[in-house]
Amino acid sequence: MTTSLSPETIAIVKASAPALQQHGLAITQRMYERLFVDPEIKALFDQAAQISGEQPKRLAAAILAYAKNIDNLGALSQAVERMAQRHVETHVKPEHYPAVAAALLPAIKDVLGDAVDQSVLDSWGEAYWILANILIEAEAAKYRAQAA
Ligand code: HEM
Repeated sequence: MTTSLSPETIAIVKASAPALQQHGLAITQRMYERLFVDPEIKALFDQAAQISGEQPKRLAAAILAYAKNIDNLGALSQAVERMAQRHVETHVKPEHYPAVAAALLPAIKDVLGDAVDQSVLDSWGEAYWILANILIEAEAAKYRAQAA
């Protein structure tokens, strides 16, 4: 698993985090519009909404907030545990992660437009996959424990 980002990438993500958080709701809404075009992905959330009765907006909020701890990932361990638990309950699998990346990054561009350039999007793409891989590993351990 890749756990390192270059200092440049970390600096770009941290510098852009306030703008992303300021427009977090718009980015989140746009991300879900893009994500829910895929019926299989939408079904994961429909099922989840019935269980929790709550909109899954925390997903994008967590990705955005994560930027704050990008150079201190240990601080996220409790949040990672909770996300992984919820993902296992809702049957999220590694193969779903590219769809979220493919929805989130263009959503950032859709909302922020010229305020973000390709280097910002690339840096967020790298950062997304660091967090995604941490979650995928935590979830794999839980699926293995369930199966045993
Ligand atoms: C780096 C990527 C991701 C992050 C940071 C993330 C974050 C989160 C967070 C914070 C929650 C709420 C947990 C809670 O109840 O406290 C959540 C729930 C959920 N996530 Fe993720 N997630 C990611 C990837 C994915 C992917 C790839 C999928 C599937 C397409 C997914 C589907 C869900 C579902 C279905 C829920 C439950 C929603 C509900 O309770 O109604 N997530 N995620």
